[in-house]
Amino acid sequence: MRVLFVCLGNICRSPTAEGVLRHQLQAEGLGELIEVASAGTGDWHVGKQPDSRTRRAAQLRGYDLSQQRAQQVKAGHFNDYDLILAMDKSNLGHLRAMQPAGAKAELDLFLRRYEGALDEVPDPYYGGEQGFEQVLDLIEAACRQLVIELKGRL
Ligand code: 4NP
Repeated sequence: MRVLFVCLGNICRSPTAEGVLRHQLQAEGLGELIEVASAGTGDWHVGKQPDSRTRRAAQLRGYDLSQQRAQQVKAGHFNDYDLILAMDKSNLGHLRAMQPAGAKAELDLFLRRYEGALDEVPDPYYGGEQGFEQVLDLIEAACRQLVIELKGRL
């Protein structure tokens, strides 16, 4: 099974979700069974590491994002991945618009399915440190639910 997280730049929210889900899956012994990746709808940061603020906040909670490099979503991803989860509604709209007819991936808004209170992960890029903590809080909680769902699908 393969899961792709998508945000705008692929340097803040979706790399965090990739790192958190991978970490939780490894802790459950599912690291070999479920592949996790991330991408952005925009191309500005392709090839770059996650934002330094994102990496620092993640590192303080035990997630190493240093090996990740940004990529842009492409048509092939819709057949490579089973589940594509967007961080906000704008990202989801872009994904729906570019999804090839008949592609296998299921698309959804990450928090609508797994968390409840907020349905979007707020973009922390232009804000302060607190935004990066909120991103981690939301993503950690949602990934715990996602792991339960993914276990049920195996
Ligand atoms: P992300 O955050 O979508 O969570 O990676 C952003 C990163 C970069 C930009 C916007 C959002 N940007 O405009 O460059």
